[in-house]
Amino acid sequence: MHKGIAIYPGSFDPTTNGHLDLIERGAKIFEELVVAILRNSEKIPMFSVAERLEMLRALTGHLKNVRIDTFDGLMVEYAKSLEATCILRGIRAISDYEYELQMALMNRKLEPTLETVFMMPADKYSYVSSRLVREVAQAGGPVKGLVPEVVEQKLREKLELAYKFHDEMHKITAVPGGKEKKRKKKS
Ligand code: PNS
Repeated sequence: MHKGIAIYPGSFDPTTNGHLDLIERGAKIFEELVVAILRNSEKIPMFSVAERLEMLRALTGHLKNVRIDTFDGLMVEYAKSLEATCILRGIRAISDYEYELQMALMNRKLEPTLETVFMMPADKYSYVSSRLVREVAQAGGPVKGLVPEVVEQKLREKLELAYKFHDEMHKITAVPGGKEKKRKKKS
């Protein structure tokens, strides 16, 4: 077991079974693992930071050396504030490598004492990403087995809410009888 703190940073929007698999593997290797959700992402998230925090806490409650936190700004600065020694990142396929290598080297340039450690999630999750999970769920497809049940339930609730909102907006903005209106015949 590696002494000290490791950080597993990410968006976790939402947490997938691949993330969870990596957290469990990381928890076996590092004395303490801090899963850190980025707060100031440029992307508009599906789940709020509070929702992601709550889900991750529920999912990792059984892992005593895992803690969930959020961070803003530069990841290496946050890592330094915790006196962490490692950054944990997952690599699913070779396509992940280029971006991850670039990020690891940039982080090393910013803070040479921090070491990035790559781990592979189970191969059955090699095609699972938060982005695809969101896409499948939004299109009404099944995400069973790709995300934990808590997340599946939350996705369902979120989409039901979105559909309701869409219906209400339609009621407010639709022109009465708009579609039924017959076109005037050209004379
Ligand atoms: O799950 P993601 O979206 O792939 O995670 C990316 C994340 C959060 C690890 C990365 O964007 C990050 O660390 N952002 C914080 C800002 C920062 O330090 N940027 C420089 C990275 S080289």
